[in-house]
This record gives sequence, C-alpha cells and structure tokens, in this order.
Amino acid sequence: TTVCTTSASDNSFIKKLKASGRSLVVFYGSQTGTGEEFAGRLAKEGIRYRLKGMVADPEECDMEELLQLKDIDNSLAVFCLATYGEGDPTDNAMEFYEWITSGDVDLTGLNYAVFGLGNKTYEHYNKVAIYVDKRLEELGANRVFELGLGDDDANIEDDFITWKDRFWPAVCDHFGIEGGGEEVLIRQYRLLEQPEVQPDRIYTGEIARLHSIQNQRPPFDAKNPFLAPIKVNRELHKGGGRSCMHIELSIDGSKMRYDAGDHVAMFPVNDKSLVEKLGQLCKADLDTVFSLINTDTDSSKKHPFPCPTTYRTALTHYLEITAIPRTHILKELAEYCTDEKEKELLRSMASISPEGKEKYQSWIQDACRNIVHILEDIKSCRPPIDHVCELLPRLQPRYYSISSSAKLHPTDVHVTAVLVEYKTPTGRINKGVATTYLKNKQPQGSEEVKVPVFIRKSQFRLPTKPETPIIMVGPGTGLAPFRGFIQERQFLRDEGKTVGESILYFGCRKRSEDYIYESELEEWVKKGTLNLKAAFSRDQGKKVYVQHLLEQDADLIWNVIGENKGHFYICGDAKNMAVDVRNILVKILSTKGNMSEADAVQYIKKMEAQKRYSADVWS
Ligand code: FAD
Ligand code: 2AM
Repeated sequence: TTVCTTSASDNSFIKKLKASGRSLVVFYGSQTGTGEEFAGRLAKEGIRYRLKGMVADPEECDMEELLQLKDIDNSLAVFCLATYGEGDPTDNAMEFYEWITSGDVDLTGLNYAVFGLGNKTYEHYNKVAIYVDKRLEELGANRVFELGLGDDDANIEDDFITWKDRFWPAVCDHFGIEGGGEEVLIRQYRLLEQPEVQPDRIYTGEIARLHSIQNQRPPFDAKNPFLAPIKVNRELHKGGGRSCMHIELSIDGSKMRYDAGDHVAMFPVNDKSLVEKLGQLCKADLDTVFSLINTDTDSSKKHPFPCPTTYRTALTHYLEITAIPRTHILKELAEYCTDEKEKELLRSMASISPEGKEKYQSWIQDACRNIVHILEDIKSCRPPIDHVCELLPRLQPRYYSISSSAKLHPTDVHVTAVLVEYKTPTGRINKGVATTYLKNKQPQGSEEVKVPVFIRKSQFRLPTKPETPIIMVGPGTGLAPFRGFIQERQFLRDEGKTVGESILYFGCRKRSEDYIYESELEEWVKKGTLNLKAAFSRDQGKKVYVQHLLEQDADLIWNVIGENKGHFYICGDAKNMAVDVRNILVKILSTKGNMSEADAVQYIKKMEAQKRYSADVWS
C-alpha cells in the first residue's frame, strides 16, 4: 500500500469535498474493517440521491473542520463507529472521540447521523456511537436521522440495511431531494493488469512495506509483523475428538516485549485448495499480476490491499475468503448470473423484504456459506475474479491471549488455541483460517517454520502488589492468560517474594480428555502457589460449571474481594460463560456483602474502575 503522509492540505476533508463537488462525508471508526465497509457503502449510495459521497478516516482528517461543513450546500456528516473492549473507540477514532468529549465547540448547522457497530454480549454495548450521537446534539449539531445500532452478536448486516433503508428517505426529506434515482452498481476500483511489472515489485504477502518479509526490520507492529519461529506445537487434549494446540513462538531478537495478559496477533493465510477452487469458479488465471486502483482519486486508500500482486497472493494473504458474505456482495454477484432464477435468489437475499431477509438468514448465515460455497451452489454465477477481490473484506489478524509470563520466558510467547472445524448444514466441513494454518505449522528438524505476529498491549494485568490475592475464572482456553499469571507468581515466589493467594476456577468437559495443562496446574498446587477449583462439566449426570463452584465458595469469594481487596478476572467465552459468571458474582456480593442487587452491580463497576475486576473475553 502507499504510505500515507498527511500534510496540512491532505487532511482537509473540506477541501476534498469542495474540489470534487461532494456534500456527503462518511467517517468511520473501524478496527477490523466492518465500520469502514459500511461507511463505503453509504458513501457510494449517496449518488442515488444526488449526494456525492466520500469516505474519511477521522485519524487522517482535521476534525475541527466539522465547524465549516455547514458552508457546503446540502452537506451531511455520517459516522459509522464501532465500540471495542471496555466501551472504547477504535484506535483510529480515539483522537476524534477525545476532541468531541472535551472540546467545547459550537457545531450549530452541522447535519449528522450516526450508526454504531457493537456486540450485545459485551457490557458496554455501542457506547461510543450512543455517546457521539448525543454529544453532537449537545454541541448544537442537527440530527438528520435517528441513531442506528448494529449488534454483531445477532445480525449486524440486517441492522445496517434496515437502518439505511429508513435513513435515505429521511435524508431526502431533510434536504428536499425528490425521489431516489435507480440503484447503480459502480465499481470502486478499476483493474489494471500488469504483465510487465518487474518480479521484485510484486507483493507476495507483505502487510504493508514491500519486501518486509525478506528484510525484517524493527519496530514490529500491525503493519510490520515479526516472523516468529515456532519452537513447539503440541496437542493438549488427551481425547474427545477436538484439538487444542500449545504453541511456543520465539520473539528472540525482535525487540518486542510483552507482559502476562497481553495478546499476540497472528496473520494467517487461507487454505490452498480453497484458493484454487475459487480461482476455478471464477475462471481465473491465478498467476496474473494486477492492481486494483481506487477510482476516487481523493481517497487516501489507493488500493484495497498491497498492489501489484497476483490473484493467488490476494486470495491467500489479503482477503477473507471464508467469511460469510454480506448482502451488498450478493447484490453485486447477482449481476453475473445468467440464470434468471438464480439472479432473483441473490437479489432477494440482498433486499430488505421479510422473505429476502429470512432467506439470507437461512441460506447464507445458518448454512455458513462462504463465497466458494455460493459459487458452487449458484452455478450460473461466474463473476470476474478482480470484482470478487474488490468485494471481499481484508483478511484480519487473529488475536490470542498470551499464555506465558515474560518473567519466565522473556523471548518466547506461548499460545493456547482451539482448532476451529465444524460441519455445516449443507454437509461441508468449514475450517477456521488461523487455527487450521497453525495446526499445519509443525516445526520439523532444523527447518524453521515461521508465522507473522505482533504484540498488542492489553489492560488485563496482575495486581501491582504481589501480595494482593486474586480470583481467576477461565474455563477452556480461558485458562490461557492465567497460565501466564500463575507462572509469574511462581517466579516471584521462587525469588523469595511474598505472594497473595491465587485461586483458579477452571472448567472443561472431561478430566480424561480436555483438562489442558493438567500436570503443570497440579505441580503449582503441590508447591502451594495455586488454589485450583476444577469443574468437569461432563464427568457426571448433571452439568457442573465454574459458576457453580463459585457459588459454593461464596464465603471464600467474599473474603478475597470484600475483605482483602483482591482482584477478580474472567477470561474466555463472552457469550454465555462471562455473563453467567458475572451474574453469580452479583449474587455472591449481594448476599455476603449485605447489598441490594443494584448496589452489588455498582460495587463491580467500582472494582472495574479500580482495575480490580477485569475481563478478557471473546466470542
Ligand atoms: P475463523 O476462520 O475466524 O472462523 C471462526 C468463525 O467461524 C467464528 O467467528 C464463527 O463465525 C464461525 N464458527 C466457528 N464455529 C462454528 C460452528 N460450530 N458453527 C457455525 N459457525 C462457526 N482463541 C483461542 O483459541 N485461544 C485464545 O487464547 C484466544 N484469545 C483471544 C483473545 C482475544 C482478545 C480475541 C479477540 C480472540 C481470542 N481468541 C482466542 C479467538 C481467536 O482470535 C480466533 O477467533 C479463533 O482462533 C478462530 O480463528 P480462526 O481463524 O481459526 O477461525
Ligand atoms: P459443556 O460444553 O459441557 O456445556 C469449556 O468449554 C467448558 O465450559 C466446558 O466444560 C463447557 O461445558 C463449559 N461451559 C459451557 N457453557 C458454559 C457457561 N455458560 N458457563 C460456564 N461454563 C460453560
């Protein structure tokens, strides 16, 4: 990709709007690309309503220019903002968020609308969008359409297209625009085939800088990952048919550091046979060298991924080919169907009619059909590969809670990962991109097997004072960061330090199958470092989960938290486990601490603010 140097004129979105006769600007706060994708779709659709649109990254813009937007006729600012972690904005929206929070500006005359991207399984559902929507109004701006909230736990695509469908009429109403034009499908990128390009100018999987794979140069980060040799890759399960990997990566010589509780991010590659199959379905020559070039010359994003490259590299390294496609992709694919019935099926699934939505839910989402499956099953649809490359989202790095302590392993990072593999309702076997990639990365003899990684700092930390007692709740792979915590506390004890009690609630299906790190845990118990409570859910008739053990131990929990100001940690499944555990904690605090339920909830909130309650959960 082109390196973007922002000079004063570059970051003037007002100048860009004026120079190209546009009045709609869609800002995004995006971490994994969904917010950016939604912003792009809105900006593109504006043309139907004679509102020429532009997508903008708040990080690259002088956001104080929002004060001047009113000088452009029929101007509108839309914000597609994701909420992450503990109710935080995405990195690229952080500065804007702080500005709008603290700034005392007068935004009278600014027309705006907000769509939020969130996930209901997390505490602070859509906090950022809700706040920005309210704050803009407080600062005098004019809300053109009500706040939309997308829930990634249910169906964020549905939430978005439903909101959008009412948003546009409201916008037209507001600006007195009569009727929308025909829907036009316009390509955002144009194809340039480049058979003449020198081989050493062709990207081969680099995330950003050309040749960064061959010439590794610190600092290593999300744009410049470190190729970490895999030292160990072994199975942790003893039976049961599933697989959980213990992986040790060397970060020696990388200058990367970590603390127990941090995450390691990994860039996987897609399955070779799936890439080949997609190439065949699109009748493509995968070795063709090409670039996709943004038709919007004002955009700071010249290419959707590093170009020039080959289709094989793009499909292997840069695109999420196993993601479940969103409706706008189906709409575009429909145009390539020669069979009218198939065209109609794709169109209807991309529509907002109740039947269409239902069909999208069952035929795409519930059936877990990715682009390859769709093209296999819709036989008359044969899109050109370059258009498919334009439509698919960018392949994302996968995050893993580091399961080691840097005190004990300063140059190694341990990962504990469960292999994702499941049968879909259409009888296909879907495989997780990163975990399948890792499964096949076995160190062999002297040959080094490497994976591109970077480290992401987290807020998930042991107490500053080793004497502070802790309660850790981590069933399944939720054990990962706690293995790091316990290693660290054992290390401190070995140094002669006084360490507070460390209580771990671990859970798995069966003692004989998926009790991961059994011998290590028992060793720590023997040494007196760990107080272990294990729930084997399927070893008896009735399910026993970590929260059941917590409930039995109500006195101990209150003693640690209420009387000894201990810390409480949860890690693992966000959807059910984390919610159930929090609820049990509320119950324990209210009974043992003589509080009302509302007070117990407040009590946990206060613990969160004091960093005495932390969650590291994922879905
Ligand atoms: P993908 O190709 O991304 O596929 C996963 C997707 O497949 C799911 O999102 C879901 O949509 C779908 N899917 C999966 N199973 C089914 C099913 N049965 N039916 C239908 N659809 C299904 N993982 C760990 O193993 N260990 C960790 O320590 C860990 N720590 C994490 C920490 C953080 C902060 C985060 C955000 C995630 C963490 N994860 C961890 C999850 C990890 O990042 C990956 O999401 C996971 O390994 C799957 O990646 P993948 O590429 O193999 O699967
Ligand atoms: P189960 O699969 O037998 O239902 C690790 O995945 C462990 O977490 C398993 O023993 C699993 O039990 C258990 N588990 C499933 N749902 C849970 C929940 N809501 N709360 C706590 N543990 C749960």
